[in-house]
Amino acid sequence: MAGGESIQVRGLSHYFGKGALRKQILFDITTTIPAGEIVIVTGPSGSGKTTLLTLIGALRSTQEGSVKVLGQELCQARSGLLEKVRRQIGFIFQSHNLVASLSARQNVELGLRVSGKLKGARARKAAVDMLEAVGLGQRMGHKPEQMSGGQRQRVAIARALVSEPSIVLADEPTASLDKQSGREVVDRMKNLARQQGTTILLVTHDNRILDVADRIVHLEDGKLSTFTDSVIADNRRMMQTLADQRRKQPIDELVAELDDTGFQELLGEISEESRQFLEATALANDMAFRSILEQGLFAFTARLGQVMAAERASLFLVDAERRSLVLKVAEDLPQSGEVRIDIGSGIAGAAAQSGEPIRVEDAYADRRFNPEVDRQSGFRTRSILALPIKNRDKQVFAVAQLLNRQDGEPFDAGDEARFADFVKPLGVILETLQSLDRITSAHGASS
Ligand SMILES: Nc1ncnc2c1ncn2[C@@H]1O[C@H](COP(=O)(O)OP(=O)(O)OP(=O)(O)O)[C@@H](O)[C@H]1O
Ligand SMILES: [Mg+2]
Repeated sequence: MAGGESIQVRGLSHYFGKGALRKQILFDITTTIPAGEIVIVTGPSGSGKTTLLTLIGALRSTQEGSVKVLGQELCQARSGLLEKVRRQIGFIFQSHNLVASLSARQNVELGLRVSGKLKGARARKAAVDMLEAVGLGQRMGHKPEQMSGGQRQRVAIARALVSEPSIVLADEPTASLDKQSGREVVDRMKNLARQQGTTILLVTHDNRILDVADRIVHLEDGKLSTFTDSVIADNRRMMQTLADQRRKQPIDELVAELDDTGFQELLGEISEESRQFLEATALANDMAFRSILEQGLFAFTARLGQVMAAERASLFLVDAERRSLVLKVAEDLPQSGEVRIDIGSGIAGAAAQSGEPIRVEDAYADRRFNPEVDRQSGFRTRSILALPIKNRDKQVFAVAQLLNRQDGEPFDAGDEARFADFVKPLGVILETLQSLDRITSAHGASS
């Protein structure tokens, strides 16, 4: 089969219901999947993903169009042939369909018996090996009812993979698994695809596993859309989910409530989403995400000041064209107009210019310090810790600054290291905001 076309779908349409209730679910789907490819199917709930999978898996008869699997036409095929095709496919479906009276090991062995590949002691060993591989070494003798949903799902995965089928059809295989086991399962599938030339068609909403795909196809209202569309649609959804989550509670309240560990986790989470956003090719200009980041930036910076036990925290963005810094976040930001300082002037300016962190024990004794700022705000600066934030091209594009340690001591090397840890995710968020800005202005220019 290697190198050949494992799955070929031509003009496939599908309908559910009869008479007036008859409803079209799939519309003229055409796609070819070569042997050994991993294809991920994404799409909103109800878009027809499972229906498509069951048609390709010969679990449902094809009404209109052509579905060829491993060289066999399924449309109008007799039940004997459908059965034969099914035996060469490993299924991992939303409902696990484990046999309740059998143990985990026996369920997996059943997968081997159905395919007729191995018998007796060798079948048993293969089942044990596969269960160990999915992390169920301690649960071989458990029956389905004695296991959690995620564990049952792993048994179903082991059962589907144990006979090394030519095709694996998986519907949300990682849905009830934690991040690490989900990753292990898809890595295992990927190895299978690479080593045995197994073709894998995988439905998922899980953005963390999209990278295993050779190709991503997107179903929307029963129609297949192109790759680029799917990447964009997918990112939009990811950002929307994030936005929905955060909208339940204003981000500043959320940040204020969290303990230090929770705060650091949230920061990590949001910067990870930002990183994915930056890496994705999507040009989707997501306003919801943008507003989260902007709100977040204020909340995070203010909180950073607290976590670092400083009296004040602020953030400056570098405007390279005008060779100046723009104050983005500060407790006493003027209502109108923006605060700008020249690159090279003041401590923040010096940090931006040198690209090195600066610690100042006594501001008024440092010639780089500009007392004018204090005079305007009525604040009395003693010590300063300024950290340049660099983008992925190693250019300084922002400066984070702490003023006055609350205990009256100057900031020390320990503060600097801790601050640097916090500021890293902040940098990713800032960079994302900037790239969103670029996208916005590019759109503006072209329309
Ligand atoms: N046996 C059936 N009889 C009638 N309608 C059905 C049947 N199975 C699915 N449908 C309908 O077909 C449409 C597509 O369903 P399908 O299960 O393929 O969606 P899906 O993309 O897998 O969704 P999800 O992500 O929620 O699993 C839905 O509107 C669903 O209600
Ligand atoms: Mg489904």
